[in-house]
Amino acid sequence: MANNRLDIIIFGATGFTGKYVVKRAAYLCKEWKLNFGIAGRRKEALEAVLKEYAPDAENVPIILADVNDEESLKKMTERTKVLATCCGPYIIYGEAVVKACIATRTHYVDVTGESQFIEKMQLLYNKAAQEAGVYIVSACGMDSIPTEMGIIFAQRKFGGEVNSIETYAMFDTNEVILPFINYTSWESLVHVLMHWDELKEIRAKLYPEKLPEFKPKLESRGIIHKNDITGDWSTIFLGCDRAVALSTQRFLYDKYKERPVQVRTYMSLKSFFILLLLLIGATIIMLMTRTAFTRKLLLKYPTLFSGGIIGRSENMSHKLFKNTRFTMIFKAVGWSAKLAEPTDKHTDPPNKELITRVSGFEPAYGLTSTALILSAIMILKEADKMPDKGGVLTPGAAFGKTSLIEELEKNDVKFEVIKSSEN
Ligand SMILES: NC(=O)c1ccc[n+]([C@@H]2O[C@H](COP(=O)([O-])OP(=O)(O)OC[C@H]3O[C@@H](n4cnc5c(N)ncnc54)[C@H](OP(=O)(O)O)[C@@H]3O)[C@@H](O)[C@H]2O)c1
Repeated sequence: MANNRLDIIIFGATGFTGKYVVKRAAYLCKEWKLNFGIAGRRKEALEAVLKEYAPDAENVPIILADVNDEESLKKMTERTKVLATCCGPYIIYGEAVVKACIATRTHYVDVTGESQFIEKMQLLYNKAAQEAGVYIVSACGMDSIPTEMGIIFAQRKFGGEVNSIETYAMFDTNEVILPFINYTSWESLVHVLMHWDELKEIRAKLYPEKLPEFKPKLESRGIIHKNDITGDWSTIFLGCDRAVALSTQRFLYDKYKERPVQVRTYMSLKSFFILLLLLIGATIIMLMTRTAFTRKLLLKYPTLFSGGIIGRSENMSHKLFKNTRFTMIFKAVGWSAKLAEPTDKHTDPPNKELITRVSGFEPAYGLTSTALILSAIMILKEADKMPDKGGVLTPGAAFGKTSLIEELEKNDVKFEVIKSSEN
């Protein structure tokens, strides 16, 4: 990789997420003595972003690139060591960017939560990325850095052998400020649900051999239950976190022969009534993604169908960042002693439990922007702790042995052990 490349380019810098990523990049790159550029398809809008979100950053080049223009993508990616892209929905815009990165031997990180995109890129480009010696790492935002790093933290602290981890995500706000998610995330969600059935086929090709079964099997706790740690009402978390975590576990088993941890992901709320409303809403949305007409309605009236949660970026308040926090609880269960081989069977029931917590500030854009830039920095600074010389990897597979957890901690994301018990 030529030395005169910039360290990081942020593509999609004019977007709602992109702007916050630029702000975090200005701060973190100064700390790490790195340089960065910003890219997108509208010059004036990019200049305005720099002025507002990185007023003190010096010599930040602006690069023009459009997803629909392959040459412009290559010209952009060959100017940087790592491309951080916020240009979504990734199901629509992502693949061309991944291809340009591989063609120009450029590392890639993104903030997608779209499982089909993540797994399709693994299937189609893992070998090419390895051959090119570049890391393509998706889901480096709220999806799925807290889950991925939280599982690694729990495993590190467990001290024996983990059989299963259940995660509970909770969001805290002093004041409900609607809307709090930008339209493009809604568009991304609609595409994920619309293409849901493709996952089965992608996975069959990605994993032709099934993993051996590990016992005791971690069953789902069902659509509604009270979690036994905080007592809050909980339901299955429908984001990509579980799929990403299982993909990481599969990678660790295949590569290092580590026993895979079984994972279930949930979200919790204090109010049963709101949880019920959310579930009813989610069911209606899922059904509406099934036909072209109802999909059109979903995309045309996002605020109505999301109960006010989704809005256009220009209507979103920056107050949001001061008021929202997230907490994730991890319940790890396993044995105090490790067996020699991952496929060796424990004859005794699990005898150890560890509860850990990951918490921090506003997750959707605040944590996302910090995690994305720190992920890019890990590739620049700690590639020697990353597997192989490249590949299409999940965050846990890519950064599990780097100091990403410690770097997140320095940036106000807390990782804590809450309770440990052993029979
Ligand atoms: N999972 C997470 O943790 C998480 C968190 C936040 C966001 N996200 C994801 O991040 C993505 C972006 O969200 P957002 O709210 O920031 O969206 P947004 O505000 O609509 O921004 C999209 C960006 O993509 C750019 N873009 C669109 N088409 C392009 C093209 N043909 N060529 C070049 N650039 C193009 C836009 O440029 P223009 O300004 O020129 O239109 C803009 O910069 C979504 O997929 C969202 O789901 C994920």
